[in-house]
Amino acid sequence: MISKKMAQTLNKQLNNELYSAYLYLSMSSFTTFIGLKGAANWFMVQYQEEMTHAMKFYDYLNSQGEHAQLAAIAAPPTEFGTLLSMFEQTLKHEQFITKCINDLMDQAVKEKDHATQIFLQWFVTEQIEEEGNDNDIIARLKLVGDSTQGLMMIDRDLAARVFTPPAAPA
Ligand code: FEO
Repeated sequence: MISKKMAQTLNKQLNNELYSAYLYLSMSSFTTFIGLKGAANWFMVQYQEEMTHAMKFYDYLNSQGEHAQLAAIAAPPTEFGTLLSMFEQTLKHEQFITKCINDLMDQAVKEKDHATQIFLQWFVTEQIEEEGNDNDIIARLKLVGDSTQGLMMIDRDLAARVFTPPAAPA
């Protein structure tokens, strides 16, 4: 059982995760349009991951006797500039999500809600990985600078990313 306030904020995060999915799907479309197929694959995998994050919140709310409520999802941008700028925007968005997860965790601790703390722990770890990935790609993009050859090389690497559904809890 979780408090009404906890349910409300978890529900808000469900919407944030759906927006994240929407944002990365839009980025995938944009990178396809500008001819960066590898980046388009990377953002499509990111979209798939975000959908699994949203479903974790959906399932958790329903498992706690609450009812996941679906709100309107804001429209994401449709144009994003250079690939470096796209990954900087991605990192900024993920930093916002990390803050949301931290705020949720603070609330769960304050309410002595142990179940929600355990549930959120997965997201705390996930956010470390997400920000780390973005920082690595940003560093590589900065290294190659204006080199088209360098950009193509990074795009080839981004093409190798594969979606792996998160493991079911033990
Ligand atoms: Fe669901 Fe990218 O955090």
